Amino acid sequence: MIYSRIIGTGSYLPEKIVTNADLEKIVDTNDEWIQSRSGIKERRIAADDQFTCDLAEQASLKAIEAAGIKSSDLDLIIVATTTPDQVFPSTACLLQQRLGIAGPPAFDVQAVCAGFLFAIDVADKFIKTGSARCALVVGAETFSRIIDWTDRTTCVLFGDGAGAVVLRAADEPGIYSTHLHSDGKYKDLLCVPVGVSRNFKQVNSGSAFTTMEGGEVFRWAVTAMSDIVDETLDANRMSRDDIDWLIPHQANIRIINAVGKRAKIPPEKVIVTVERHGNTSAASVPLALDEAVRDGRIKPGQNVLIEGFGGGFTWGSALVKM
Ligand code: ACO
Repeated sequence: MIYSRIIGTGSYLPEKIVTNADLEKIVDTNDEWIQSRSGIKERRIAADDQFTCDLAEQASLKAIEAAGIKSSDLDLIIVATTTPDQVFPSTACLLQQRLGIAGPPAFDVQAVCAGFLFAIDVADKFIKTGSARCALVVGAETFSRIIDWTDRTTCVLFGDGAGAVVLRAADEPGIYSTHLHSDGKYKDLLCVPVGVSRNFKQVNSGSAFTTMEGGEVFRWAVTAMSDIVDETLDANRMSRDDIDWLIPHQANIRIINAVGKRAKIPPEKVIVTVERHGNTSAASVPLALDEAVRDGRIKPGQNVLIEGFGGGFTWGSALVKM
């Protein structure tokens, strides 16, 4: 049996920090409201000339360095993003060129805030079936570009960033299991209602913005991300005690706390970055993973349950032995 193991992690945050006080100057909001409703204190925003691939490249170089491999060792590149640099080629192809690799497949996956989990699932299957031996999986977003900065109900919640992992084939897990779900009947609750094929003029004029039914999204995110903890543990005949760390999608501290409570995972086992990153969509989980690996909380051999939830709705998890 072939498994895939995470052998290196990396992440990148743009330099520009936007605090809640900064947002008070552009919309009718305040630090107390934002912190009490979301836990967010600040977020990073990409520079005008910085695009998703730039963020992905920095995170990837760090993951490649941490893995102790060369770019030329990679035989698969998957980028999870909702905010690609261009309509095409994919951000993964742009990244491949930056990394100086030619030949192996490179493609994007789109599952919004659950995108990194979908990308990990696909890469894991490539490795398990012998189609790839060393994969780069990236979650990268410039979500600030699809936010209406005059809409206080959404603009306070999001940020930009990128996280990456290198997966390599191994004789032992590694990734124990992955679990993915979608339910398109909730498509209108969290979306950008225009795109390439529909009302493209709005995209062209820079008014393709995220809309959200916050309360509904909140309820669904809590239910889906706590239920999938049980699904993941059951599939591996493991108990909560076998989990060293939970890394949920970083959308909102109230969602994270409610997931921990409902899934009966104590707060000291839950990695939280949302207060400094905001919601970076597909980048949120690999960013949090890299942070906790680099600061020494996550140690080799520990079991980490990562999970995401996003527009679609889409949701997924992976149970990983580091
Ligand atoms: N500053 C000040 N007041 C605000 C702001 C703001 N930024 N935004 C909204 N308000 C006001 C509202 O207008 C409303 O005022 P009203 O009562 O006079 O109409 C009041 O605050 C309360 O608004 P609610 O929507 O009831 O606030 P709630 O406590 O539900 O929190 C929030 C809103 C933070 C959006 C919450 O519903 C939430 O977190 N939902 C989950 C959404 C999420 O995290 N989405 C991220 C993408 S999804 C994902 O990644 C999983």
